[in-house]
Amino acid sequence: MSITIYVPCDSSAVSLGADRVATAIVQEAAKRGIDIKLVRNGSRGMYWLEPLVEVATDKGRVAYGPVQPGDVSGLFDADFTQGGAHALGLGLTEELDYFKKQQRLTFARIGKTDPVSLTDYIDNDGYRGLKNALAMTQEQIVQAVTDSGLRGRGGAAFPTGIKWKTVLNTASLQKYIICNADEGDSGTFSDRMVMEGDPFVLIEGMTIAGLAVDATQGYIYLRIEYPHAFEVLNAAIATAYKEGYLGDNIQGSGLTFNLEVRLGAGAYVCGEETSLMESLEGKRGLVRFKPPLPAISGLFGQPTVVNNVISLASVPVILDKGGDYYRDFGMGRSRGTLPVQLAGNIKRPGLVELGFGLTLRELLYDFGGGAASGRPIRAVQVGGPLGAYLPESQFDTPLDYEAFAAIWAVVGHGGIVVFDDTVNMAEMARYSMEFCKIESCGKCTPCRIGSTRGVEVMDDIINGRNLDKNIPLLRDLCDTLLNGSLCALGGMTPYPVLSALNHFPEDFGINAKASAA
Ligand SMILES: Cc1cc2nc3c(=O)[nH]c(=O)nc-3n(C[C@H](O)[C@H](O)[C@H](O)COP(=O)(O)O)c2cc1C
Ligand code: SF4
Repeated sequence: MSITIYVPCDSSAVSLGADRVATAIVQEAAKRGIDIKLVRNGSRGMYWLEPLVEVATDKGRVAYGPVQPGDVSGLFDADFTQGGAHALGLGLTEELDYFKKQQRLTFARIGKTDPVSLTDYIDNDGYRGLKNALAMTQEQIVQAVTDSGLRGRGGAAFPTGIKWKTVLNTASLQKYIICNADEGDSGTFSDRMVMEGDPFVLIEGMTIAGLAVDATQGYIYLRIEYPHAFEVLNAAIATAYKEGYLGDNIQGSGLTFNLEVRLGAGAYVCGEETSLMESLEGKRGLVRFKPPLPAISGLFGQPTVVNNVISLASVPVILDKGGDYYRDFGMGRSRGTLPVQLAGNIKRPGLVELGFGLTLRELLYDFGGGAASGRPIRAVQVGGPLGAYLPESQFDTPLDYEAFAAIWAVVGHGGIVVFDDTVNMAEMARYSMEFCKIESCGKCTPCRIGSTRGVEVMDDIINGRNLDKNIPLLRDLCDTLLNGSLCALGGMTPYPVLSALNHFPEDFGINAKASAA
């Protein structure tokens, strides 16, 4: 009987040599006359172990990693196809602490299945949510999503059920579902993992959204920097059409949902939902005034649901197991699970899906294992380039939207970027201003001009010029950005800048007392 061996096709694993490892395994097996079936699965999200090779055994899948092509013949010598002992052996994959301690709802299949196999998807609970949805009224579907407590995972944490209800209740001959797959935040990769590792879950979530609000057309707005996700999504969409999961008669229901992938062109601001729609319409990615809300007048002026990849990929499990099941995870008003992404200077970078409520400290040390450099962690930036920098004294904050808001920080898309004690926080504040300057769409003055002036002020501060004047000037400028910007790009740039100044004044050449002035 052939032995099943898994080598991830996730682009991070590939960048670490997974394709070459897969080729070496196939060649070595042929040379030794061993009958194997090679499956290219998604990543389990333990990136420090990639390429992570798994072998199916009677006891479960046994993991080896990180494997390089040069390790392959030694693995065969050690009988790894039977789970044999080897220096790279890690034991049963699902017993690994990092993996075992997670609560994988949205990521339940990722790393287990072949991403483009519809059979694998269905055999592992796929399309159960859609099946239930097809037997429900539109109001019942929206109610299930509302009951789940799901809030948008793209950053703003707006309740998904309320957004869907607005679109459902807005009469129109044409409505749209847009999946925001721009994933521009630093240190984030959960959207990519879903699209590369379980594309059908996103397709299913978008289909359910379409049925719920009467939208017959969906678009996945994908960042151009994800060529592998583009390929995988298109392959899965083609299969879904062929097997009647997309198109004009979904599973014989007579209902229609069509889906296409569109590529962005590399602008961070095109992740903002209104400039995203401008871009989808073929125009320059300029932010629109709100109101009207996209739910009332969005793409081509029609009612539109815009949701993040993770929000939409969480819908199938909600429709499968019920809103209450999902709601049981989490804390306070942050319900369900959040796929946290650990990145930057961290020993064990990767994806950790857990109910809201775990503290940063638990994530950074119990999962992440501390800084990769072995030095103390000095700061973490949570929520992308517009998120606040948090010092060690705030590491006991639980991951919860409200708890973060209370310390003037954001959870955002759940990306955590770690810095050790060699970081200079004034340089990081300057970088935030520069990022805003480079990425500004230019529509409003505080952001377009303020960010340029912000870089100049930061240069003066870093060079120790006129600190008595320039620190208050920086605060004043941040106040203008915060209160006068049209969108959160300008409006949130003060989060990283002021948090760096407030928590690390010594890096700005001043003491704590002067910083508060
Ligand atoms: C500058 C900027 C960039 C953004 N980038 C993204 C992004 O890459 N992905 C995303 O889902 N949301 C992004 N957002 C948030 C979107 O505007 C929007 O709130 C989100 O797509 C709604 O989906 P959700 O309710 O499921 O979170 C961004 C917002 C701003 C202001
Ligand atoms: S804040 Fe910046 S990105 Fe947003 S609308 Fe204004 S200029 Fe454009």
